[in-house]
Amino acid sequence: MKTNIYLIGFMGSGKTTIGKLLADQMQRHFIDLDEEIKNYEKRSIPYIFETKGEDYFREIESKVLLQTQDIQLGIVSTGGGIISREINRKFLKKQQTVYLEWDFGTLYERIENDPNRPNAKSYEQLKCLYESRIDFYESTGTYRVSCENKSKKEIVREVIKWLGGEL
Ligand code: S3P
Repeated sequence: MKTNIYLIGFMGSGKTTIGKLLADQMQRHFIDLDEEIKNYEKRSIPYIFETKGEDYFREIESKVLLQTQDIQLGIVSTGGGIISREINRKFLKKQQTVYLEWDFGTLYERIENDPNRPNAKSYEQLKCLYESRIDFYESTGTYRVSCENKSKKEIVREVIKWLGGEL
């Protein structure tokens, strides 16, 4: 299997952590799209949001997402808002895309007031954002892992099992 595996989910769902563990176990490259954006712009994400706005950030995000087509056998961790653009959703639906699903309460505890996440604002705003995105995560993921009450190891095992146990 030469295709990449993409991880999607709301902020705080562990896309980077699980992605690194998967990459380790499957001996694949790990790519974090937020890191790619930072390297491309040579700026932090809060700085990009503040000086250039979210629309600009989303342009770069789509660009780096589509560039992953040039990579083979990668594990790609995406930002929580990747599903907000149709072009990204269309692309992800054609890939092996794993949605890491958690209850909002769990996610909120992890992300509240994180200064590195410009979209992590008040409880109400975040809840609204979560609710506006949930259908997109569900319809874009080609596989969904219900993560509540599962350890990182169990989540990784489940993804590998879904992939047919192929390492
Ligand atoms: C965002 C999520 C972030 C990052 C940016 C915007 C969002 O990634 O891309 O701050 O709108 O949900 P994480 O999901 O890794 O926090």
